Amino acid sequence: MPTSQNLIGPGGRLFAEPEPGRDEATFRVDNTSEAYYQSPYFRLHQKQVQPIPAPRRGAPPQMNLADFIGPQVASAIGTARKITFHAVGDSGAAKVNRSQGAATAIGHEAGVADAMAREVQTEAASFFFHLGDVVYYFGESQYYYDQFYEPFRAYDRPIFAIPGNHDGMVFGKASSLPQVPSLEGFLRNFCAAKPGPSADAGGLVRSAMTQPGVYFTLDAPYVSIIGLYSNVLEGPGVLSSQGGHYPVSDEQLTFLKSELERLAPDRRAGKRAVVLALHHPPLSADARHAGSTGAQNDIDHACQAAGLWPDLVLSGHAHLYQRFTRRTGPRSKETPYIVAGSGGFATTRPQAKLPPAPVTAGDHTLEVDPLVDFGYLTITTDARTLKVSFRSPSAGGVKQLDSVTVNLETERLERAGAAGGRPASARPPAAGSRRRP
Ligand SMILES: [Fe+2]
Repeated sequence: MPTSQNLIGPGGRLFAEPEPGRDEATFRVDNTSEAYYQSPYFRLHQKQVQPIPAPRRGAPPQMNLADFIGPQVASAIGTARKITFHAVGDSGAAKVNRSQGAATAIGHEAGVADAMAREVQTEAASFFFHLGDVVYYFGESQYYYDQFYEPFRAYDRPIFAIPGNHDGMVFGKASSLPQVPSLEGFLRNFCAAKPGPSADAGGLVRSAMTQPGVYFTLDAPYVSIIGLYSNVLEGPGVLSSQGGHYPVSDEQLTFLKSELERLAPDRRAGKRAVVLALHHPPLSADARHAGSTGAQNDIDHACQAAGLWPDLVLSGHAHLYQRFTRRTGPRSKETPYIVAGSGGFATTRPQAKLPPAPVTAGDHTLEVDPLVDFGYLTITTDARTLKVSFRSPSAGGVKQLDSVTVNLETERLERAGAAGGRPASARPPAAGSRRRP
């Protein structure tokens, strides 16, 4: 666990508490915002998208990880010749009801966050890329302490994030104007102009993150992650106007295409993997959230235009773990599409009549039975292979419930029995045994 030797990043950035202490048992601010689902503004506008905030003036859309972790940690990554990082979404502990008290809700998020914090030490994890829905239910600033800063107070590395629908959703007493503008809390805490203390951190040391906006690219050694904002609807995810269907800007698509073009030479030279992250999953087999076809079409058009397809697509939103393989592009590149909305908010089940995996539909295959467990992704790449593991806190520590490795040279999954390959997955127990009632 972190000590007084905690990392201090460039510009005096702070991450973890010197002495993190025990997990909370009660919320500092009880969450009452579920009531806003009944507010006049939300009821009238819940099927409408919200504006996509323009990137901060003068800020380039790319960030370099070294500017956050400093030269010493960056040099250690170079020495190891590989990088490890975390990803998961939907972490906010908020759901308290007759069957789940505050301590249980907090425990679900804390179990995930504490396990990730340990891997900063044990696996040299360099950062956490949050897949959205940081704060439930409407992204309010007053819940950032209980749902973000406190649970991740021991995570001694930078945390980047794309917003989820809950981070951008708005409510109001009247039908004409939201009480607080969309994404106000997210922009304060993740897109600050300077890395100072956040007014929402409740006295904890983690510096506000300084992303250029709600869509951006994180350039790290061996990997770049393009993060996109898929707006506020429960479904589907929306990245653009989709030819005038939604009243939002298309600038995010221009950004995506230009970033794929920028990264293509490095990717072709074997210098880095390219990962895409958006909160709403393009593919999903859960009971509540279907895949987002319009967002997938937007991504496909950008990839086609740039001549580069991602090596991995990460999403949250559906509160369980799902792993698909999609075959795209002129060489039928095999790309894992992983849904990991398992960060701590209440779990959701897969579709009731889903047959046992593998299940193929069109160009994609659901590779393993969905896992209804809280957990997180640990991702490691050296630009030759990229390995993603799904890990879940358990009484004895952490269990690895699934993993997949992509060979970035052949653009194929490494499968059991292949020369030099490892099993593509550790199959979960028989369907039903991992599913909670
Ligand atoms: Fe969501």
